[in-house]
Amino acid sequence: MPVLTKRILIVDDDLNFSDILSDFFLKKGWAVFTAKNGQLAVSSIHANDPDIILMNVDLPVRDGITTCNLLRRDIAMARQYPIIMMAAFPDKKKIVKSIDAGCDDFIIKPFKFDVLINKIEKITEFYHKKINIQKQEGESDYKDEEQEAEIIVYSRNAIKKIFSNTMNDRRIEYPVVQKVVDNMVKILHRENNLPMAFKMKSYNDYIYIHSINVATLAMSFAYHLKWEPSDLQIIGEGGFMHDIGKTKIDLQILMKPDKLTDAEFSEMKKHPLLGRDILAKDNVSDEIQKIALEHHERINGSGYPNHLSGEQISKFGKLAAIIDAYDALTTDRCFQGGVDSLNALKIMSESAGQFDPILFDKFTDLIKNETIGK
Ligand SMILES: [Fe+2]
Ligand SMILES: [Fe+2]
Repeated sequence: MPVLTKRILIVDDDLNFSDILSDFFLKKGWAVFTAKNGQLAVSSIHANDPDIILMNVDLPVRDGITTCNLLRRDIAMARQYPIIMMAAFPDKKKIVKSIDAGCDDFIIKPFKFDVLINKIEKITEFYHKKINIQKQEGESDYKDEEQEAEIIVYSRNAIKKIFSNTMNDRRIEYPVVQKVVDNMVKILHRENNLPMAFKMKSYNDYIYIHSINVATLAMSFAYHLKWEPSDLQIIGEGGFMHDIGKTKIDLQILMKPDKLTDAEFSEMKKHPLLGRDILAKDNVSDEIQKIALEHHERINGSGYPNHLSGEQISKFGKLAAIIDAYDALTTDRCFQGGVDSLNALKIMSESAGQFDPILFDKFTDLIKNETIGK
């Protein structure tokens, strides 16, 4: 993927760290601007029009979250700037506040430079798409790609809001999910396709994008299987919220770059039950609750949390299990790149007996047709 960004603003009062980052980007031939606090950052943005802003959460004079909030609401700004927030610790409250303030991504120090570059590339690509849509606003005849990008922007914002609400023990705003999925079902029938499902790995905000990927891939697959529109709605909504239980898992575990210990993995395995409980509290339908509860169950009984097998798993749970595993394998994570479609299918087929064999065969056909043959 080409490097799209050439002008970076680094906002950090840790001057040693700022120098190391500056050196790295200068060696890559980028124009680097630095600021020690949020106030100076705003002046620098007006003067230098950076392509990306890398800003520490904790800053003197004006902290990163307040600055991010101001930038997102400052109509004097020439445009919306991509912002990645940095922090020394995975502090849940600060991450939620940063997301609410409108940052695009979050990175915990110390980080690997290639992880940062990967995030920058994905975010700038995302912004280029967004700018293209804004240019087209007012024109009724959107091209497919622009329409797809519009849904990506809308659904990404919706899913961010839902996750931030549950992290803060607020209601999930279920009608927002219903509206996003309802629009997708309409597009599926109008365009006979939901091709964005195969192009959306363009942004590395994993916790949100995985949910959107699972929703769109699951809907495309269900459409391919000729499921009823009401089932597409269920699998879409369930896809969006299947991992909602992760909002209740300790961030140190969620964001751990290394392999989880047995105790940590046991903790992580609670997310399907936690997710089901969150959805039940909001009176979300049983079928959707089952998607959250069953997406880690396996046909041969080797899954969790209830070690269900065969027909004990709902058709939605069986489909979600395939999509969830496929997306987890193919999407770039914080500290590990995803594999390509063919390799993902190969890995999944080696886990013999885990997935419904008929569904898995049909999924393999779909992926080969949609991604490998094009
Ligand atoms: Fe999950
Ligand atoms: Fe998942």
